Amino acid sequence: MRLSALVLVLALGLAACAARTPSLKSQPANPARAAVLSPLERDIHSFALPNVARVTHVDLDLTADFTESRLHGTATLTFAAVAGASEIILDVKGLDTFRATDAAGHNLDISLGEAEKNLGQPLRIALPAQGDSIVIHYATRPDSLALQWLSPAQTLGKQHPFLFSQGQAILTRTWIPTQDSPGIRQTYSARITIPQELRAVMSAEQLSSPEGEPAAPGQKAYRFVMPRPVPPYLIALAIGDLAFMPIGDRAGVYAEPGLVQAAAAEFADLPRMMSAAEALYGPYRWGRYDVLVLPPSFPFGGMENPRLTFATPTVIAGDKSLVSLVAHELAHSWSGNLVTNATWSDFWLNEGFTTYFENRIMEATFGPAQAAMLANLGYQDLAQTIADLGGEGAPDTRLKIDLAGRDPDDGLTDIAYEKGAAFLRAMEKSVGRARWDAYLRSYFDRFAFQPMTTEGFLADVQTNLFANQAFDFAAWAYQPGVPAGGEPPPSDALDKAAQEARAFAAGHPAAKLHTEGWATQQWLRFLDTLPKTISKKQLVDLDTTFQFSQRGNSEILFAWFKVAIAQRYEPAFPALEHFLISQGRRKFVRPLYAALMAQDGWGPPLARRIYGTARPGYHSVTSGAVDALVR
Ligand code: BES
Ligand code: ZN
Repeated sequence: MRLSALVLVLALGLAACAARTPSLKSQPANPARAAVLSPLERDIHSFALPNVARVTHVDLDLTADFTESRLHGTATLTFAAVAGASEIILDVKGLDTFRATDAAGHNLDISLGEAEKNLGQPLRIALPAQGDSIVIHYATRPDSLALQWLSPAQTLGKQHPFLFSQGQAILTRTWIPTQDSPGIRQTYSARITIPQELRAVMSAEQLSSPEGEPAAPGQKAYRFVMPRPVPPYLIALAIGDLAFMPIGDRAGVYAEPGLVQAAAAEFADLPRMMSAAEALYGPYRWGRYDVLVLPPSFPFGGMENPRLTFATPTVIAGDKSLVSLVAHELAHSWSGNLVTNATWSDFWLNEGFTTYFENRIMEATFGPAQAAMLANLGYQDLAQTIADLGGEGAPDTRLKIDLAGRDPDDGLTDIAYEKGAAFLRAMEKSVGRARWDAYLRSYFDRFAFQPMTTEGFLADVQTNLFANQAFDFAAWAYQPGVPAGGEPPPSDALDKAAQEARAFAAGHPAAKLHTEGWATQQWLRFLDTLPKTISKKQLVDLDTTFQFSQRGNSEILFAWFKVAIAQRYEPAFPALEHFLISQGRRKFVRPLYAALMAQDGWGPPLARRIYGTARPGYHSVTSGAVDALVR
């Protein structure tokens, strides 16, 4: 009965969709634009059928239990459904879902479907006879892939535990039962109950005072609201011993008390970066922009959770040299958070646009020479990525990639970031900066708070910018390899660094090299240019002259350790071991283990020994990736 009703509804939905959007209760403001996916083209990484019944709002009432490493409580979902729909399908993975009720507390039928690799399970809930909300009573499990529960020892202060979430790409379903697809935008609100001595923050507006509100003995609560619809991967929570420092009147930084001052100094240019971004592509639409600096196990450099970027502490170099990472996450406030990839196959729309926009923010804030260095380092990484993926013809070097049966993480390569950015640079060069910038500005205005597909973007840019001009869009978007035309401007500073590296390789002593006043990015180019053939004696000379193993800059350390491993330069190994144990950023950790595993004889045992110590400290995102390498 229920099934046949669903089939009928689906058929109606499909018929309706052929002509127009199926009529949902509480229609989005602009249905013609918002209906990007027809039921036929549903997101392959979600079980949801949003054109039958879709979640529009999530209200969380959760308690954080640090003893059991669980969040437990309720998620109240508001939905919109076509007439006659009998159930709503959610995504869940590893959740304990106890029961569901309507708003009045009457039980609703719920059933879990079969698990699929990567995706988790569909959770089907019968729609209530009355009202448009359902209440799900649930708890997360200690091994929830999105959540990392840190012991006090894993924090800087060593006194208090810490919890943070990481939703992108499809991990939100491991802590919130909802429709976990980037095309299904939802507003959200939350009440989070936590131990008295901690503080909770979310990617939303804080309704409670910094001290929180009274709750059960020994506990307090924080309330939040995100009034703009966001894709569920952007719902984020962190709880810990957090201090706050403002940076100007609409930015600031949260961090453990021992780090908050250094963090505020590192990100002091944030107000200028925000103004630069707004001058380019329109108003910042999220109110405040704060950065939360996490404990060192945070698996990414940064994560663009709205109003509250999550960042690795390894970005705090002490000299602002790595702040382009914050420019990147800030840029996502437009590309990604405002206009969002409709599916994970369109991921390049998030990251390629953001990498391009990041560089424009850096150029406007710190000048063209600085921006050129950064753009060139990125573009150089692209060549290496293409080689690693199997060369110019490899299918995964396409911008729109086929993720059927795969984890969206497989698309998380430099192709999305750097080929995507190069595509945008090529379009910019083709029409000129003034017209390009005017187009991008209007693009963000016209598609604000909506999902976007590769096809949707191509159609829009062809109509509005390239109506009278030829451009090979198909080659960029759908074919492997990298067409010409998207190269970044040259960087004299990097060329000099490469020249010094070649001089050193040719026998010049380190002390005679011209390295005065070098930027971090020049050191990176220098280290990446050193040939594989340099001798151990030369490495000793380098290390004693430039003290690479003792550097505090995480990017320089990373580049140095790659050289040290390739040459089996053992004096650097204690520092390497410390680096791998003391932080868990996947971008640093995975390649270093891979490099060790590729060394004959001595490498794998060293990798296994270090990983044995380091693994318990890593987030699942990092240990999952390293497990596949170190065995
Ligand atoms: N949104 C990404 C991180 C991400 C992507 C997490 C896909 C999970 C799945 C974020 O904006 C990002 O790109 N971070 C980079 C830093 C950036 C400067 C390139 C990172 O973490 O290294
Ligand atoms: Zn990004």
